[in-house]
Amino acid sequence: MQIGLLTGGGDCPGLNAAIRAVVKRGLGEYGHSIMGFRNGWKGVVDGDILPLTRDKIRNTLPLGGTLLGTARYHPTKENGGIDAVLQVLEQERIEALICIGGDGTLHAASEVAAAGVKIVAIPKTIDNDVWGTDQSIGYHTAVNIATEAIDRIHTTAESHNRVMVIEVMGRTAGWIAVNAGIAGGAEIVLAPEEPFDMDKVVRFLTHRHRSHASFSIVVVAEGAQAVPGSSFEYTSATGKYGEIIGGAVGAAVSQEIAQRTGFDTRLTVLGHVQRGGSPTPTDRILGSRFGVAAVDAINADKSDVMTALIGEHVELVSLQEIAGKVKTVPAELLQVARALA
Ligand code: F6P
Repeated sequence: MQIGLLTGGGDCPGLNAAIRAVVKRGLGEYGHSIMGFRNGWKGVVDGDILPLTRDKIRNTLPLGGTLLGTARYHPTKENGGIDAVLQVLEQERIEALICIGGDGTLHAASEVAAAGVKIVAIPKTIDNDVWGTDQSIGYHTAVNIATEAIDRIHTTAESHNRVMVIEVMGRTAGWIAVNAGIAGGAEIVLAPEEPFDMDKVVRFLTHRHRSHASFSIVVVAEGAQAVPGSSFEYTSATGKYGEIIGGAVGAAVSQEIAQRTGFDTRLTVLGHVQRGGSPTPTDRILGSRFGVAAVDAINADKSDVMTALIGEHVELVSLQEIAGKVKTVPAELLQVARALA
């Protein structure tokens, strides 16, 4: 069988582990051909193909990024995009397609599946916001990177008696902010799930610095929002498909804290550092498990499904059921971050 494979949306560590697993399982166990499409859905539309042989995946397990390349290109949002995808898949005699992506890529995958193409999806995103899976490829590494950054910032915060504001990625979900915040011992975590009140932030910091500390760590998710109607306002820039271009909320929060408390305050926007470099063993293992499961699913004649980590097990969930939903941080976890302030 000829299987297509693509990685779409923002890259993350662990994608190469998944690609490698698809190739090894597909070629070795079943004798399939794996045809990679470069740069996500854009490569499908352009017919930009990289046949994936064993030599292409050699030594890729510890490498960040994606050997197939990726792009923010959504065929569902381009005129005739889905038709162009279907045409190329037919031309290239692709009998099944494995799509590794976040919500945008998976949404397109569900539309292509609805048009009759055999599709198996694999969730990846440092944001960890894909519905239906406990974890997405890339998230574990991003939390590790953000935690290490907070640890490093901690020591300089303490030496200089400063408030350090650290903005992390995550779009409209606060998984990275909350978990790296807890792991790094942040005093305040501002997550999108819980609009924040700047007056309370200022009161908390003022009290803390007056009573027992001379430094503070404030972790801000890039999608954090102030409570509606509050006087504190900022606007984030967005890309072509509505993705947040980071920096705005961190800058606004840090400026406001500095002005209202008088404390020496600095901002670090972690940005794409969170998406780069070598994947953790957890992400390598997750990518490998999802890759094997995706090929096995195709062999079992499954379609319109996504591999998902549910508890200890990798299972298949319906793509139609998860598409368009966002998995946000539960109240219990937000409460832990608050409780450890
Ligand atoms: O979805 C992953 C992510 O890193 C988000 O956390 C962030 O908002 C966005 O991608 C940034 O996108 P880009 O790499 O296109 O700037």
